[in-house]
Amino acid sequence: MASYLPIADDEKGYELDLFCVPRHYENDLEKVIIPHGLIMDRTERLARDIIQDMGGHHIVALCVLKGGYKFFADLLDYITALNQNSDKSVPLTVDFIRVKSYCNDKSTNSVKVIGGDELSSLSGKNVLIVEDIVETGRTMQTLLSLLSECNPKMVKVVSLLVKRTPRSSGYRPDYIGFEVPDAFLVGYALDYNEYFRDLSHICILNDQAKEKYKV
Ligand code: IMP
Ligand code: MG
Repeated sequence: MASYLPIADDEKGYELDLFCVPRHYENDLEKVIIPHGLIMDRTERLARDIIQDMGGHHIVALCVLKGGYKFFADLLDYITALNQNSDKSVPLTVDFIRVKSYCNDKSTNSVKVIGGDELSSLSGKNVLIVEDIVETGRTMQTLLSLLSECNPKMVKVVSLLVKRTPRSSGYRPDYIGFEVPDAFLVGYALDYNEYFRDLSHICILNDQAKEKYKV
C-alpha cells in the first residue's frame, strides 16, 4: 500500500507563470513543486486514513503552529465532513501549541514549545499531532516525549511533508502526505523567517531570496 506521495529529487516542478503567485514573491521562487490543488487532494485521503484508524474514540487534534495551520484547517475540514456523513462519528476537539526551532534556513538545536492547554487534558484521549514538515525529526521527537508524560490513550502524528535528507534522525510520522527533496520549501503556511505563509502553493525558494529575507 502506498503510504506517501514521493516527489523525486530531479522533479522539474512547474513554471511560476502557470499558476497564481503573489507579485511580491515573483522573483523569490525557483518553481512550484506542489500545487495547492494536489495538496488538497492528498489531504482528503489522509483524512480518510486517519478516521479509519483513530475514529473509535474522542480525537484531540493538536496543531503545531505556525507552519501547520493551513494543513490543520484543511485536514480538519475533511475529517469533519467524514464525521457528519457517516453512521459512526466521534467528537473532535482542537488544541494549539507553538514550536520554534528554525533561524534562516537552518534548524537550531533547541526546540521551544510554547502555549496550548495544560497537556494533562490529553490524558486518556486519542491525540493526533498535525505538523507541516519533518526534517531532522527533532521537533517531533521532543514533542512526543513531552506528550507521553500525560498518558494519552493513543498518539498519532500526521505530517504533510517529510524531507529526504541525511540530517534525518530516522523518525517517520504515522501519516505522510508527500516525501520531498532536500531543499528549503515555502508556501501553504511554511515560512522563511515568517515570509511566504501567504502563498498557496508549495514552492522552492531561490538563493537570492534566502539572502533578501535573512535575519
Ligand atoms: P525538524 O525538527 O528538523 O524535523 O524540523 C521541523 C520544523 O522545521 C518544521 O516544523 C518546520 O517548522 C521547520 N522546517 C523544516 N524544513 C523546512 C522547510 O523546508 N521550510 C520551512 N520550514 C521548515
Ligand atoms: Mg512546523
